[in-house]
Parts: sequence; C-alpha cells; structure tokens
Amino acid sequence: MCGIVGYIGTKKASPILINGLLRLEYRGYDSAGISTIENNSISIMKDKGRVKNLYNLSGIDDLEGTIGIAHTRWATHGKPSKENSHPHMDNSKTFSVVHNGIIENYNELKKFLIKEGYIFYSQTDTEIIPNLIHYYYSKDNKQDDLKLLRSIKNACSKLKGSFAIEVISKDYPDNMIVVRKDSPLVIGKGDNENYISSDIPAILSFTREFYLLEDLEFVILSRHDAKFYDKDLNSINKRIQTIEWNASSAEKDGFDDYMLKEIYEQPTAIRETIGAKLTEDSKCEFDELDFTKEYLQSINKIYLVACGTAMHAGLAGKNMIEHICKIPTEVDIASEFRYRDPIIDNKTLCVFISQSGETADTIAALKLSKEKGAKTLAISNVIGSSITREADFSIYTHAGPEIAVASTKAYTSQVVLLSILTIYFAEILKISEKEVKSLKKAIIELPSKIEKTLKCTEKIKKFGHRIYQEKDVFFLGRGVDETVAKESALKLKEISYIHAESYPAGELKHGPIALIENNITVISIMTDPKLVEKTVSNIQEVITRGAKTLVVTNQKIDDKMFDTVIHIPETNSFVSPILSVIPLQLLSYYISKEKGLDVDKPRNLAKSVTVE
Ligand code: G6P
Repeated sequence: MCGIVGYIGTKKASPILINGLLRLEYRGYDSAGISTIENNSISIMKDKGRVKNLYNLSGIDDLEGTIGIAHTRWATHGKPSKENSHPHMDNSKTFSVVHNGIIENYNELKKFLIKEGYIFYSQTDTEIIPNLIHYYYSKDNKQDDLKLLRSIKNACSKLKGSFAIEVISKDYPDNMIVVRKDSPLVIGKGDNENYISSDIPAILSFTREFYLLEDLEFVILSRHDAKFYDKDLNSINKRIQTIEWNASSAEKDGFDDYMLKEIYEQPTAIRETIGAKLTEDSKCEFDELDFTKEYLQSINKIYLVACGTAMHAGLAGKNMIEHICKIPTEVDIASEFRYRDPIIDNKTLCVFISQSGETADTIAALKLSKEKGAKTLAISNVIGSSITREADFSIYTHAGPEIAVASTKAYTSQVVLLSILTIYFAEILKISEKEVKSLKKAIIELPSKIEKTLKCTEKIKKFGHRIYQEKDVFFLGRGVDETVAKESALKLKEISYIHAESYPAGELKHGPIALIENNITVISIMTDPKLVEKTVSNIQEVITRGAKTLVVTNQKIDDKMFDTVIHIPETNSFVSPILSVIPLQLLSYYISKEKGLDVDKPRNLAKSVTVE
C-alpha cells in the first residue's frame, strides 16, 4: 500500500509532488521518488529513505517540468533500495511509471519480456509495466492520439492482481494516463491543472473537487482536461464530487481512527496476502521457499515464536499445521523462548512471526535458534525488516502499513499466511488431500465473508454501549475459538483498559467460575461444530450465576439463551478465527470510543517494541 501523487498543469511539478508525498508520510513507506518531463525527455529522482531526502538529490531543483508523477514505496517485491524505488522506466526510456498494488503474474510476464529482449534492473513487479507498455507501443503502427492509451490498455489486460498506475511518456509530454484496479486512485481538478493521488489528503490542500475512479477506468489527463474511458476504451462521463473532509479525517479515508480503517481494510489485506500463492485448482506456491518432501519429513518439531498478537496468530497456525501436516508444533512467546533453553537441533524448523519484523525479543529468539542449528523462517509485514534479514527464509503478509498500535489486519493476514503455509507443506508431503481442498476453498472465500461479517457493526456497538463501564470481562472458547478468546481479551485490555481474561471454556470450573457474579460480562466464541455443545453448557453455567453474555458463532444455537448473538458466515474451522475475531475487534474499538480514549495510541503501549 504505497502512495501515489501526480501533477499536470502550468506550475513547476517537483515541489507539488514532494509536498504531496510528505502528506502521505503518515501511511509508512521505505523509499520515495519523482519523475518529470523536461525538453521531451524523462527525468527520475529517487532513493530509499525519507521523502525529505529528495531535496538533497543533486539536480532536483533543476527539474522545471510541469508534468510529473511521484511515489512512496512500501516494499512488496525486492528490498528497499534505489533500484527498487519508483518511478520505473522501460528500456527505451520512453515511459515512466509509478504503481501501487501487486502484480500477481509478474514472474510469468517478466519471463515473456526477457524472451523478447527486455532487461530488468530491479526486483520489483512494477518494472514489467513500462516494458509491457513499450512492447505494445512498438507493435502499434497507428499514429493517432489514442496510441499511448491503447498500449497501456493492452498492457493492463495482461496484468493479474491489483494496480493503480500513473504513466508519463516523452512522446506525449503534455499528457498523463492513469488507471486503477482494486487499488485507489483519485483525480483532483484545479484551474488549468489536474492533481492525481492514491489518497485524497495528499492533494486536499490544492482542490476539493474530485473525480473518483472505478476499476479499469482509464483517464487521459492534459492541463485543461480529463478524458475518461471504460475498459474497452469507450468514452465515458464522470461526475465531479466535492469532498468536505478535513485533512485529518481524509488521512483516515473518512474513518474516525486508523484502527477502524484497518479493521475495514481486512478484505483487501487478505486478498493481497493470498495473491498468486493460492488458487483452488493448482498447487500452492511460494517463490521464496524451496522445501522438499525429505526435508519436511525430517523435521522433528516446528516452533512458532512471536510476541503479542502475532503470537496469537501462531496459536491458530499450530492447530492447522499439527492437524493437517502431522508435524508436532509448539507456540512460544519470544521473551520466554529465548531464556528457556528450548530443545532445538538441525531437524527443528523455527518460524518467527512479526508484523514489524523489529521486535527485540523475536529477533533474539531467532538468533538463538540459528546458533542451535535450526532452519529459520520469518513471517513479516515489512520487507527488509530485521527478522527477514536474519532468517534463512522469509515470507510476507501484504497487509500494508498498520498504524494503529492495536493490531487487527496484520493478525488476520498472519493467520491467512500460516494457513497457506500449511497447505504448501501438506501438498509437498502429499497428505490430507481432502482437508487441503476444503481449506483452499475457504481461504479464497474469506475476503467476501469478512465483508459480510463487518455488517455486525451496529449490533456490536449496542452491546459495547451496555458494557463500557465494566471493570472485568471474560472471554471463553474451546480449540481454535480459545485462540480468538485470547486475542480478543488482549484487544480489549489494550485499547479500553478493561481487565479482560480469556480461558479455555472447559477450564472454567477449575477456578475462574469463582469470579462469576451477577451481571458480569462473559463473551464466548463458538465456531467449531464438534465443540459447540460443550461450550454452550459452559456458558449455561455462567448464565445461571447471573452473567450477561455475548456469543459470536457460525453454528445453529438457541439465540434466546443469550443476551446478544452475533452470527458470522460459516467457514472451515481452521480459518474461522479470521472471521470470529472481527466482531470482537469492533467491540474493543467501540468500547474505547465510548470511554473517550485514544484508540490509535493507547497509553503505555508501542507499535513496535524494539527494546527488551
Ligand atoms: C507490540 C504491539 C502489538 C504486537 C506486538 C508484536 O506489543 O503493540 O500489537 O502484536 O508488539 O509486534 P510484531 O511487530 O512483532 O508483530
């Protein structure tokens, strides 16, 4: 989830572009760059690091062009570096392109272009785009005004995945072409000028009049005009919309807080994490891994090591790996693991899960495992982060930058990635074929089921209103639901400062039931058909003692027994945490709001804990 800015008008473009990028800094990024056209040739200035470093690049002040594109990069393919930063040009230096999103079939397209004689200088998926445009451009013999648009459209028809693209060309120095699919892009209309951005806040200080683009709508921009075309290049009309947001709500896409925005971003985060790795009818693939059947059969144990929410994702992962791959798997808290002298040898696979990739305890646990001879695999949301540099192998969630301290979309993306990893192992081991098939289908259906789950907001808000002044809340579940109980209790503690405890429902009678008194709140999760009746009986015991109950379930239960029941879509039990956690993320959020707390920056907590 990188940032895009563009300008075409009568003013010098570079300061406007850099100013726009600075306004996108809040989203998080690792590199920045701009490209302008002067004297019919393309200039590019880019580097890894902060946007303000662009001011120090020699020659930046000499860029006089009044048309330009700009980008802040959050690495997805290839580490943060100057070569991998955008904009990217084609080999003939005719086109300059910035891109947000992920091109899932880039490997296949890259191979095709290499065969056609193209050379690649970066590890990005983006660099195929200018070269593919050039490929079609060089094959088009018509010399009309639409040639550039046609070439871009032909290139886009080959792209699988998500993209928002800006293209400038030295052959068309007075035009810019933009298009989007599953990645945002807006056009701001000025006076004899047009602004382009992935995010409204970047250009809100220049204009409040916007065209909002739909998927596969192409636009030819000139200084005075914006011409819109549909996917077949038929001309279409677009309505201008006036945006009333202030700068702060614009940064959050109109949501009140980053946390809420990130909760709602989960369908996209999961779609991008699945990417090209998983389809229903082909084998699961990880370009970054080359595990063999012999190696997987030789593993004596897998450790999933992490902190906080990432550790809770590990708990969901353990269930799947043990059940489907039949490999003994343990989940460890990194700060414990590093000091408890775990039994590790060269037959152990240690997997480290960390959104930031910078958590001090997780890094230390990784170093220890390496010293003891284990093979190490990092799961992170940040390419080039410390754990990915340290581990033997790294795979990535593509949740985009997570800004709220309380993790939401990173957690669900981690569970998704662990489920894909499980399938990858099982397919190599050639076991659990039936279960793998059903799990694959379930994973692919997740984004649309999350969208359905998010419809519970109003009901959850009401329940939150009833309990926001409570001092203690209990979360109960069995099996995979207990992992969600743990994560939900953590979320409530983190942002609402309510004392929240989670227990395996069967443990209730071994202690916690002593704390159940009239009117106390007990929240339970029931998604495993094998265990639902057992959990219902446990909840019956707390109801008898006067508890208020909220149930999150995808099973048929007697709703009348409970105060509030949130029904979520049915899915494979292994990935049910991805759906069942959502109402409880929302519950913590709305309770925190009712209490007037700073949801995104809870007291005493840090997003990334880089010290022990
Ligand atoms: C902090 C954050 C949590 C996060 C944990 C691990 O405690 O507040 O939200 O789960 O660190 O972070 P990591 O970046 O390693 O996933």
